[in-house]
Amino acid sequence: MSKLIKIFLDTANVEVIREIAGIYPIDGVTTNPSVLAKECDNVGDTLMSISKIIGEDRFLHVQTTAATAQEMFAQAKKMKAVFGANFYVKIPITEQGLKAITLCKNADINVTATAVFTPMQALLAAQSGADYVAPYINRIDNIVSDGVDVVAHISKLFSVQDVKTRILAASFKNVQQVYGTVANGAHAVTISGELCKELLFHPYTEKSLDDFRSDWEKKFGKREITDFI
Ligand code: G3P
Repeated sequence: MSKLIKIFLDTANVEVIREIAGIYPIDGVTTNPSVLAKECDNVGDTLMSISKIIGEDRFLHVQTTAATAQEMFAQAKKMKAVFGANFYVKIPITEQGLKAITLCKNADINVTATAVFTPMQALLAAQSGADYVAPYINRIDNIVSDGVDVVAHISKLFSVQDVKTRILAASFKNVQQVYGTVANGAHAVTISGELCKELLFHPYTEKSLDDFRSDWEKKFGKREITDFI
């Protein structure tokens, strides 16, 4: 079965990545300067560890820290040389960023345009060749706007104009935001390990399992299903 939606972990916490990627259908990891500053002292070692944990079949998105297009491009080239074909450089959607996106795409480097807040920013990133645009859902909600609605508008715009750039929605605080974005055209989401668990959890699922176990044990004690087969 082909997976239409990609799910990324938005963290640099190696233990969280190891645990969640061992259970959930995770397609890769995204980081940003804030995430790296929060989670690690040795950025190089941490990124190498993440790269090893996720392996060659999953994707690693790392953001530039430079101010100019040429510097962003230089950072992207250096990171691609280290992290390989499944590396995506995250480039902020600024004037220098647009220029850097073009430079990176001309050098065959995968690009995620990040810190996107409007459909027109997304369109400019796409026109410059970005593979993904990353709208920040919760941050949009926090400025009394509607992150899911922004994704819906980007999706419609890309569809009407036959733009192939995909939408990687980021900045989530709850399950409803994640559901809203994938239901409105996001091709990928990047979420925390905690939120990933929240996507799965339901108290009635837990209760149903408790009821199954209790009904079974009343009749069959500690025997298991395969003891009868
Ligand atoms: O990676 C960018 C984005 O996920 C930021 O999320 O939670 O800091 O708004 P947040």
